[in-house]
Amino acid sequence: MYRVMLVEKDRLMLSKLSAVIERTPGFTMAVRYQSKQDALGQGRMFDPNLILLDIDNENAIPLIESFHQSYPNADILGMAAEWRPESATHLIGAGARGCLIKPFTGVELQEAVREFVTEGSEKDCETLVFFSPKGKSGKTTLIANLAEALARRSHEQVGIIDADLQFGDMAVFFNLAPKSTIVEAARDVRFLSPVTLKRYYVPVSERVHVLCGTTKPNYIDKVSIPQLENIIRMSKSLFRYLLIDVPPGFNPTSIAAAENSSVTYLCAMINGAFEMDHMRRALAIFQDWDDADERARVIFTRVSPCTEQKRRELENELGHPVAAIIPNEYLVVSQAADNGQMATELQPDNPLAKSVDRLAEQIIGSRAPQAARWSS
Ligand SMILES: Nc1ncnc2c1ncn2[C@@H]1O[C@H](COP(=O)(O)OP(=O)(O)OP(=O)(O)O)[C@@H](O)[C@H]1O
Ligand SMILES: [Mg+2]
Repeated sequence: MYRVMLVEKDRLMLSKLSAVIERTPGFTMAVRYQSKQDALGQGRMFDPNLILLDIDNENAIPLIESFHQSYPNADILGMAAEWRPESATHLIGAGARGCLIKPFTGVELQEAVREFVTEGSEKDCETLVFFSPKGKSGKTTLIANLAEALARRSHEQVGIIDADLQFGDMAVFFNLAPKSTIVEAARDVRFLSPVTLKRYYVPVSERVHVLCGTTKPNYIDKVSIPQLENIIRMSKSLFRYLLIDVPPGFNPTSIAAAENSSVTYLCAMINGAFEMDHMRRALAIFQDWDDADERARVIFTRVSPCTEQKRRELENELGHPVAAIIPNEYLVVSQAADNGQMATELQPDNPLAKSVDRLAEQIIGSRAPQAARWSS
């Protein structure tokens, strides 16, 4: 049972939120204050274990720090009228667990506590962007299968963002008819917190959620780059692994996503000699990153024969490490897609499933020391 201390300057808001808390199962109001000083000075005898703290119109960092010091055993959630991703890292650093947008409903409060307190906000998110120098690289297929493999092997939450803003087809892959897509998420993102953003994602299995792409190519205008960046940042606090599909080639969307990623996979389908050359030229651009060796990794799809020896040959030819190769398995890929299922589920022993599993293992194993899941 959460014994809540509510600290909110606005009297109307204070009574509105108190009523919500009282009505929410698992929560009880221990005490409420309009004044932060009173809350700091007098609240201890009520022994709250959850503090909901208004952080608007105030320097939130020292405020959270002082509550954290006075109430070391209570979990603190900030409350703000609007989500400000740039400050999230600092709030966590100061001792808060997360942030709620007010006014909130009982369900949102429960979700926030589950998300930030029970599961912990320290979990960091591995953000993986799948870039392709040209179209038809097999990356959407790979992402969909990899997400399932990651979830199955790690038992962690996995998110997919379809940011291929004009021709995203992740929804088709999973046979989804989404009520909300990245367009609605972008429209609302200013007023969302991570918890409410999650509703825009569509669950496709127990641990995999998809934020579907636009339903029409001209909707690309409805998702600005800053909005996309906000969606990505916010999503990092929802998932342990976040996989992002982007349009082929270098464009504002793919660049923004890559900049916000922990790893960018450069994907190309082996069809002829050109792929190698395109890959080399794309890699050269990513070399601008200081940590390019770690952060820009190569995947070739439809590789035949899909053997370790072939992988090394490709490495030699490219002059760069090849992180993974995916075999040519058109039949299983398309059969699975027709069923709205993933090849990895349909035929777990199939060579494609196996190489996707290996990549998943690599990703789970590496757990690169990454920016915290709140980081911007
Ligand atoms: N490993 C594979 N073996 C054989 N065929 C594949 C493989 N992966 C994908 N394909 C097929 O190649 C085509 C393109 O795949 P996919 O849509 O995943 O690529 P993409 O890079 O996302 O393409 P786009 O640029 O259109 O977004 C699809 O018809 C798919 O079924
Ligand atoms: Mg695609």
